Amino acid sequence: MKLGLVAQNPIEWVMKRLNVVPAPLLETQMAYTLSRLVMVATKLGVFNLLATSPMSGARIAEVCHTSRIGTEKLLFALAGAGYLNASDGAYALTPVSRKWLVTASSHSLADKMLLQFLEWDWMLRAEDYVRTGDPLDLHNSLTADADWDLYQRGMRAIAPSSSGEMVRRLKVPRGARAMLDIGGSHGYYSVVLCRKHKGLRSVILDLPEAVTQAAPILAAERMGDRVVHRAGDALTADLGENAYDLVLVSMLVHHFSDEQNSELVGRVARALRPGGVLAVQDIFRPHTPKQAGQFGALLEFYFALTSQSGTWSIEDMTRWQQQANLQPRKPIRYRTLPGVGIQAAVKPH
Ligand SMILES: C[S@@+](CC[C@H](N)C(=O)[O-])C[C@H]1O[C@@H](n2cnc3c(N)ncnc32)[C@H](O)[C@@H]1O
Repeated sequence: MKLGLVAQNPIEWVMKRLNVVPAPLLETQMAYTLSRLVMVATKLGVFNLLATSPMSGARIAEVCHTSRIGTEKLLFALAGAGYLNASDGAYALTPVSRKWLVTASSHSLADKMLLQFLEWDWMLRAEDYVRTGDPLDLHNSLTADADWDLYQRGMRAIAPSSSGEMVRRLKVPRGARAMLDIGGSHGYYSVVLCRKHKGLRSVILDLPEAVTQAAPILAAERMGDRVVHRAGDALTADLGENAYDLVLVSMLVHHFSDEQNSELVGRVARALRPGGVLAVQDIFRPHTPKQAGQFGALLEFYFALTSQSGTWSIEDMTRWQQQANLQPRKPIRYRTLPGVGIQAAVKPH
């Protein structure tokens, strides 16, 4: 899949083929306008409001405390873009907005839309990054509690996109009892794995600022003391010895350098019991733009800009694992999230 101009009739198709459509104009202006409007409508509560029933623009403006004219323009744009249906003077949700943008939906990406207000500001640094090569120090740039809250909620919102495949495809040692979820934030991956493996309990290690904001998100899962937080720094924390059957490191290695990851995997190897599994879930660095495709290549830039090191290849991950005397398994490449997957390894008996 990719983003781009989609011809809606044969004449448009021919014009596109002949390269007479100003593609860069349309692709960029439409992309940023649509992005911002979906984010704004989410923030103002438009999608949640319409989950109750269709409504007129005037009524939506009244309930959302927004201007009538501005709201009408927003609704009109979203209806043209397929995020709302407009008929008989009322606006209603479409299947896409109902499933993905209403907070009460189990698939809701609403919190990710709110995080994107921060990400928008991060993207403003793109030119600077290209000129200087200096990426954003994301975790040190988050100063306000509200920003940490947006970050943790945003991560939680996208976790279900991969948790289903993780639970189905990650081989957890039989009878596993103890799990460590490093940089685990909201803890959703621990929650779904502990729900599937009845005897399993998990400790989520994350920075203190993250734990403060993620605690209520985890509490909402009602896992009690089976899944708990521990505040600490993954780069220095004592992870113990022969203590865990499963260690998950999800979406963290792209924040660390090669040396930091190699050292972390060494400590994880000591912390695993014989037969225990380390699962590194992350974006796999693609070798060529063609292999990456549009999404993978754009994400490659995003992660280079917003993390201190950028993504790592499967070969890098297996090298850290082999250096720590772990036995790498075949990588799991997600079908629902191209470019993302799990590189797991086992501690030999
Ligand atoms: C991109 S989020 C991933 C969250 C979660 N593992 C997931 O996959 O959805 C990275 C997480 O790692 C945490 N983190 C970053 N640096 C860390 C460190 N040095 N020690 C512990 N956690 C860290 C952040 O606070 C954040 O919660």
